[in-house]
Amino acid sequence: MTQDELKQAVARAAIDYVVDGEIIGVGTGSTANFFIDELAKIKHRIKGAVASSEATAARLAGHGIAVYDLNHVPEISVYVDGADEITAAGAMIKGGGAALTREKIVASVARQFVCIADGSKLVEVLGKFPLPVEVLPMARAAVMRRLAALGGEPRLRLQAGTDQAFITDNCCEIIDVLGLSIADPLALELQINQIVGVLTNGLFAARGANVCLLGTPEGVRKLAF
Ligand code: A5P
Repeated sequence: MTQDELKQAVARAAIDYVVDGEIIGVGTGSTANFFIDELAKIKHRIKGAVASSEATAARLAGHGIAVYDLNHVPEISVYVDGADEITAAGAMIKGGGAALTREKIVASVARQFVCIADGSKLVEVLGKFPLPVEVLPMARAAVMRRLAALGGEPRLRLQAGTDQAFITDNCCEIIDVLGLSIADPLALELQINQIVGVLTNGLFAARGANVCLLGTPEGVRKLAF
């Protein structure tokens, strides 16, 4: 099976978690895109969706799924999203697709977080995937110094093929921190949150996944946390 087929399989399996008549929280990235395509097939069963990025909002709308402003949605039953890495305890690194802040916000109001990922995303220790940290542009250098002091190697994310900073949906920048081995994801998430100028970091431990559907050649493996 190809990686895309594994992603498609978990996207399909996540439909079982969709609650009829409700507004669904939808993540960002290639696996979430497969989920949106599956959601489109049952769009008559749901009221609509809250998107975690402009790209996801556009894809949902393209399928004719109503996109709601989170400010008008008091609670979400389920949030479905991918991950860059996930541990057997449900802690994740997210933000490879730069949508970490809105992902964390939508996840925070969801009763259940269903992570969908191909099997390669399951790791023993987080940190091989560079940790994304979204920062306000004027704080970039100061935050990079603080992240370096934590033992990482911070690098400003650039727009592909240019020397210009990548700009997020929130008009901020992303620092990717290489070389971390994250023994205690919750402690590091809270520590980085304390750095002034940080909007969000890509550790999802305080609000990790409740369920992970992992795509493997033998089928979809479910981990519950
Ligand atoms: C987006 O910002 C990310 O958090 C994605 O959820 C994560 O990068 C997984 O993306 P893929 O499904 O494309 O691997």
